[in-house]
Amino acid sequence: MDQQTETDLTRELNYGTWRAQKGWKPRMIVSAEGCSFRDSEGNSFLDFSSQLMCSNLGHGNRNVIEAIVSQARSLPYAAPEFTTEARVRLSRKLLEVMPAGLRKFFFGTSGTEANEAAVKIARMFFRKQGKFKIITRYDSYHGSTTGSIALTGDHRRYSAELPGHATGIVRAPDPYCYRCPLGLRFPDCGIACADYIDYMFKHEGNVAAVMLEPVTGTNGVIVPPDGYMQRVARIAKENDALLIADEVMSGWGRTGEWFAVNKWGVVPDIITTAKGITGAYIPLSLTATNAEIADYFEENVFWHGHTYEAHPLTLLPAVAAIEEYQKKGLIERSREMGKYVGERLGEIMEGHVSVGDVRGMGLFWAVELVKDRETREPFNTREDKLNGKTTMAGRVAQEMMKKGVFINSWVTHLIVAPPLIVTKEEIDRGMDALDSALEVADREARR
Ligand SMILES: Cc1ncc(COP(=O)(O)O)c(C=O)c1O
Repeated sequence: MDQQTETDLTRELNYGTWRAQKGWKPRMIVSAEGCSFRDSEGNSFLDFSSQLMCSNLGHGNRNVIEAIVSQARSLPYAAPEFTTEARVRLSRKLLEVMPAGLRKFFFGTSGTEANEAAVKIARMFFRKQGKFKIITRYDSYHGSTTGSIALTGDHRRYSAELPGHATGIVRAPDPYCYRCPLGLRFPDCGIACADYIDYMFKHEGNVAAVMLEPVTGTNGVIVPPDGYMQRVARIAKENDALLIADEVMSGWGRTGEWFAVNKWGVVPDIITTAKGITGAYIPLSLTATNAEIADYFEENVFWHGHTYEAHPLTLLPAVAAIEEYQKKGLIERSREMGKYVGERLGEIMEGHVSVGDVRGMGLFWAVELVKDRETREPFNTREDKLNGKTTMAGRVAQEMMKKGVFINSWVTHLIVAPPLIVTKEEIDRGMDALDSALEVADREARR
């Protein structure tokens, strides 16, 4: 079967996600190794975004694959009411790498499920006090199901918002310094966006939790200023609410830390994560909670579960994945290589009038495109994305694909997030492709 037939069949029989179906031309991927993957026509691509910012270990990792095979042979499934060796091994392994204090775990199969669980846990925890509201932020993505899309701040929630749907979600301003929603400048702002969360607590009432991505992912790799996370943690505590860190994308070395919160010495009450926990070899997510929450459920019913909770086939590969992070020193490597990525992106910004900002930490960076550097006018808006318009970031990504480099794009930016095993030569190859592809945007930017 040739690639055209495969594409046509997939198009006819499946849905392409987050898009109108017209014009969807899925490329057939047949193999992947290290930081590259190959299509059915023999073209090879450098994976400059770890697929969906999830293949942190790179492709073809033998130890993780072997863990899947050996678990499939020994015990592919047991119902959640039982325990298994894989379950015990992973739970103990997690204690080595999770921030100290997070010691009781619930396993699901997607980031979406991890966040659904976290919110239900927070609401059960405060049920007697009647607290149920959740503060999230506008530039956020927390998942696709009815509850988690309501937590989400970005435009993907619009189509799911119906009267009476998912009440109790209120949204805070983002610590997006390049386009401060409060029109302020760091450090003179005094981190007013964090203080505004305290104002929300006082005026909303009944807030059970603040849920945020410590480093915002899809919506622009927004790294908050130093002091922001500590301040939000303090505000949540003072207002007797839980802090939930959504580390679905920012966890597992992506930011040069096991979890992004470590950078600021913050231990949230709950961490949710997925993606890198198995390097995306198998679908697994985690909702990790602290002792106070764990104690609450000693006497109170934990009203939550799934058929595939703690599915053995998903758990042993996570043990292997964590061992790989540890053995290969990938967290430190992400920090080191991230410095090089930052340097190279700085050079790229100097050479391209269409690059308004580059920002990130570890191997997690955004390149934000602008039509006008002076005014910071973007090429595209959320509305363009909603209307299915090809964005400038999308056009640059297409150019890079022609040069053999795969990169993710969102409304106004590209996301540089290669596997943590990436070499300097591979980074250079990706940067060279970006450098030449940006001419497409430069041509339409004001000088
Ligand atoms: C921060 C964040 N939370 C939640 C999710 C949802 O995870 P999943 O797609 O595994 O359901 C994502 C997915 O990209 C994410 O980036």
